[in-house]
Amino acid sequence: MFDFGDFYQIIAKNKLNSWLEVLPAQLANWQKQNLDSRVNQWLNSIKHLPAITPNQLDLLHSVTATMVQPLSTGEQQRISQLLKNMLPWRKGPFHLYGVHIDTEWRSDWKWERLINHIASLEGKMVLDVGCNSGYHLWRMIGAGAKLAVGIDPMALYLCQFEAIRKLLGNDKRAHLLPLGIEELPKLNAFDTVFSMGVLYHRRSPLDHLLQLKDQLVNGGQLVLETLVIDGKEHQALMPGERYAQMRNVYFIPSVPTMINWLHKCGFSEVKVVDISQTSLDEQRQTEWMTSESLADFLDPNDLTKTIEGYPAPIRAVFTATK
Ligand SMILES: C[S@@+](CC[C@H](N)C(=O)[O-])C[C@H]1O[C@@H](n2cnc3c(N)ncnc32)[C@H](O)[C@@H]1O
Repeated sequence: MFDFGDFYQIIAKNKLNSWLEVLPAQLANWQKQNLDSRVNQWLNSIKHLPAITPNQLDLLHSVTATMVQPLSTGEQQRISQLLKNMLPWRKGPFHLYGVHIDTEWRSDWKWERLINHIASLEGKMVLDVGCNSGYHLWRMIGAGAKLAVGIDPMALYLCQFEAIRKLLGNDKRAHLLPLGIEELPKLNAFDTVFSMGVLYHRRSPLDHLLQLKDQLVNGGQLVLETLVIDGKEHQALMPGERYAQMRNVYFIPSVPTMINWLHKCGFSEVKVVDISQTSLDEQRQTEWMTSESLADFLDPNDLTKTIEGYPAPIRAVFTATK
């Protein structure tokens, strides 16, 4: 069983308190539907992890926890084995007491590309939609956020997050709730809302933007990261069955189209702050994610194309104000 009691207590005292009208019932329902034998095995691994409070915790430059008295090789191996019960680890990396979770993605690179272009997170309440393992939640805390809330419907990612949290001294500044964005009421409460790597997975991208807007305070900032194509205003790619082997990709806009969508949804001060081609160093197979990765999704004879013949992944970061 997952216990969200600490989160309920925190939000009872802040402007998220109206969420309590629906949240406990939603999460109880999620637990009923998701507590299968696999999740119980992951929960068991979390239970066996040591509860460690780091002497030093760096969330500003990386996610790195250290102890004055280093863990023995045996203790490191035990932690590593328990965490490897929760493969695949996609978003990271995490450096915990000598254990290096070398995830499929260098999520720190995405963070470095955007952090100098967004409104300060100092003292802010922030929401990360589609937060996966919660890697960026910890970086948001490192950038000064007072509360970082992530949502992601997948049980594995909640387990990975809770495992990391336990190894970070049960830190209660970041929280992950197993929900989809479509399940959130209109909270109008977060200073900054992040949606990174989610928009192209949504059947209706404009509805996604409106749902994100409903979570922001007036004047709050949306930070949106998505796949884009090189193209003109009014252009978007709607791939066939698969894009870079992913089945659930619906719309990949050009940068001008994405700006247009944001304006259409009522956002102001829309800016594109980064455009980068995803490299084979940023997304790759590792011992923590042992199945196929970007190198297998590109045309081996032309790395500018996916194996389906579409343009290879380019990602852009946008900021916009409600
Ligand atoms: C490509 S990953 C992006 C992870 C992370 N935000 C990043 O940028 O590295 C997309 C994530 O969105 C989550 N997701 C899928 N459907 C969602 C939904 N309806 N609401 C919120 N998250 C969702 C997936 O489980 C997955 O972890």
